Amino acid sequence: MSKPTTPAESAQLKDIVAHAKEYGFVFQSSEIYDGLAAVYDYGPNGVELKNNLKRLWWEAMTQLHGNVVGIDAAIFMDPRTWEASGHVAGFNDPLIDNLDSKKRYRADVLIEEKAAEYEKAGDPARGAALTAEMGRLLTANDLAGVKQLIIDEKIVDPLSGSSKWTDVRQFNLMFSTQGSAVDSEAAPVYLRPETAQGIFVNFLNVQKSARMKIPFGIAQIGKAFRNEIVARQFIFRMREFEQMEMQFFVRPGTEGEWYDTWKAARRRFHEALGLPAAKLRFHDHDKLAHYAKAAVDIEYEFPFGFKEMEGIHSRGDFDLTQHQNLSRKKQQYFDNDIDETTGKPYGNYVPYVVETSVGADRLFLATLCEAFQEETITEGEGEAQTTKQRTFLKLHPAVAPIKAAIFPLVRKDGMPEKAQQIFDDLRFDFRLVIEDKDAIGKRYTRQDLIGTPFCIVVDGQTLEDDTVTVRHRDTREQTRMPISALRAYIGEAVSFKTVFAKL
Ligand code: GAP
Repeated sequence: MSKPTTPAESAQLKDIVAHAKEYGFVFQSSEIYDGLAAVYDYGPNGVELKNNLKRLWWEAMTQLHGNVVGIDAAIFMDPRTWEASGHVAGFNDPLIDNLDSKKRYRADVLIEEKAAEYEKAGDPARGAALTAEMGRLLTANDLAGVKQLIIDEKIVDPLSGSSKWTDVRQFNLMFSTQGSAVDSEAAPVYLRPETAQGIFVNFLNVQKSARMKIPFGIAQIGKAFRNEIVARQFIFRMREFEQMEMQFFVRPGTEGEWYDTWKAARRRFHEALGLPAAKLRFHDHDKLAHYAKAAVDIEYEFPFGFKEMEGIHSRGDFDLTQHQNLSRKKQQYFDNDIDETTGKPYGNYVPYVVETSVGADRLFLATLCEAFQEETITEGEGEAQTTKQRTFLKLHPAVAPIKAAIFPLVRKDGMPEKAQQIFDDLRFDFRLVIEDKDAIGKRYTRQDLIGTPFCIVVDGQTLEDDTVTVRHRDTREQTRMPISALRAYIGEAVSFKTVFAKL
């Protein structure tokens, strides 16, 4: 259950949102037209950070696991895909309107917020009982029961305080568009609400073409779309977002072990990236999605409380069987390993699936929240001592948008040329910038604000002995080293190996 947001926490989120805009990480979509709700664009630093996170996930999945391969499926799929997957009938949010404020809410979110109030008031058992009851009613699709729960709990509109509610209705979250230019009666084409189905419909293509043997996984990164009603908390809940999903196909009966294995592996990934163990937790679902036999979220403590960052789902053979039934194409695998109990091959079966699904944008937001640091620093001594505030992004060097900035101390005496030489020598290996404007202190500040781990200064001594100072973002300490040592020094720190070694 999520912790309610305190004013200090929302102030922190506000600072992070402002920082993300000011320093080129995230912009509101079409801002000059006042913005499109719950849609965001990534700026020059944001796209570098996001691409680094995606590449890290991709390599952690495919490069580190000999039995996981990737695909890149289209966003549009045959509309029958979504009938088979259950999304046409069941991918709904329970909505309720307030008759006074005319505002629309998710009924489950209103109840969860009430449960969080009980928790805050020191009665977590009552909160847990409330969410359990809500889970029961939603699973039974008892919408009248959900409304009654809202009335019994005296839940009012957070804006107007009114308790005049409409009935609860189910609202499908899929966006659709007209696919056929010639047939106006044709079924709508949906914008995929999850990337997973592109993997399921390609299960046999991949298994056969890549000669995969069970157990094996198929990984994919791509856009997904949901018509979210509660669109809040910056990039946490968007209408267009990116998922990084992996479907792991296993022999029926072994899904429990694989569920536990992937649950632990995915948590290790987030910790290796620098999200502290104390700010991560597992949360078993109160209400299972229509496809899931078991499901757990990995939650991160965002400034607005513990919230889902990744879902691990045991999907059984639900999706492949549904596609097999609707397409009338067998989705079976022939397993010629010997079953020890029968002494015969396992033979043909529809594999079971364990899924890991993390939002690239939520991982981005968690990484940004965790990296955002404000500290007071003291400079000078005695009477000359001053204190000032410093804001910096303590990003893991492997995902930082820019790995090093090169500063000629002054714009003369051959220093700019030397800086350019270093840039040219290292640019095939790392994303770098040269900065020669303003005092050195200001240049350090600018790089701290975007999380650049190293600043390399070319000074008078460099021209004499080919050494530079390397200033470290987190400690502000400086180390003098030969230019020839830079590649190995930076390379070591920014390598994905530093993350992979902890997995
Ligand atoms: N294929 C399974 C699936 O889609 P999900 O729990 O609905 O499961 C998986 O979504 C992940 O996708 C979530 O844990 C979250 O990180 C991300 N996600 C879902 N909806 C999102 C949204 N509206 N905005 C941003 N990320 C979202």
